[in-house]
Amino acid sequence: MKMMREAKDARARVRVIAPAKINLHLEVLGLRDDGFHELAMVMQSIELVDYLEITNSSNGLINLSCNDPLLDTDSNNLIYKAAELLRLRSGFDELGTTIHLEKNIPIGAGLAGGSSNGAATLVGLNYLWGLGFSDKELEELSAELGSDMPFCLAGGTQLCFGRGERLEQVKNANSSIAVLLVKDPSKSVSTPWAYSQSREKYGEKYLKTESEFEIRRKILKDESWLYSMSQENPPPLKNDLQKVVAPITPAVQNALEILQMIPETLSVAMSGSGPSCFALFSDMNAAQKAMDQNLNSFTQAGLDSWCCSFRTNGVALEL
Ligand code: C5P
Repeated sequence: MKMMREAKDARARVRVIAPAKINLHLEVLGLRDDGFHELAMVMQSIELVDYLEITNSSNGLINLSCNDPLLDTDSNNLIYKAAELLRLRSGFDELGTTIHLEKNIPIGAGLAGGSSNGAATLVGLNYLWGLGFSDKELEELSAELGSDMPFCLAGGTQLCFGRGERLEQVKNANSSIAVLLVKDPSKSVSTPWAYSQSREKYGEKYLKTESEFEIRRKILKDESWLYSMSQENPPPLKNDLQKVVAPITPAVQNALEILQMIPETLSVAMSGSGPSCFALFSDMNAAQKAMDQNLNSFTQAGLDSWCCSFRTNGVALEL
């Protein structure tokens, strides 16, 4: 049976904001029966965002373009996959769209740019195609496309368990903290490779049972820093993938060393599977000043840099 829908005008448009994320905490707990890793993370949306200009059509075609010629815009792109999956689940083969992606989030960086683009596509097309999928239904669809995607939809500060798709919002998290991000534009890290390195090096020490996983989740949920992030009590930052990626990735080592030398830095880490690294600052002024003062060092080390604040939500429609 086909679902009901209230389609928007054939050429209606919408702009969707797709924010990047960083990992304040990424802990590999163990290996799951489905081959993925069981994780305990704290993910944080940041104000480094891509924009998707989405136009409705009814010719059954999905067309994708991007301002960055280096990005694949074929059927492997998560935007394309998200549009296809949503159309399939709707049962309306005639649904089509033209999407233009304005890419600002660095590609292959550990910042969930691709996942966020996919999540933004689900939200934009659910609206334009008038499908009426609930937030919960979109969350479930998004988890089929990528482990980080449910977080990208919800955003803000979230504890993320399971493959990364089981979310628990951190309430009253401090959003005044700012981020200085750096990345070597010529380097990217494969996420499957980073996890396989972790398994090779630390697999023997992984927790084995669900009850062991649950004990770690409870301990993380009780961490006081989660609920009182401040200059006196900055997030301690932990990334288990950093332990395996940094020692064999000079671009990450350099980035961490340069960021650690900045006196006002609260804490420094790699994001996700890298290679982007970030430093936290008490506010945007401090982050901006640190970026301006260290621009030469970044350039000499071949690093691009950005600074932005924490963000309190994820994907958003601009109506
Ligand atoms: O879910 P996603 O497509 O983002 O995952 C990319 C790859 O990262 C997976 O194929 C897997 O190799 C690895 N991964 C993992 N455990 C997770 C998430 C990702 O091993 N929880």
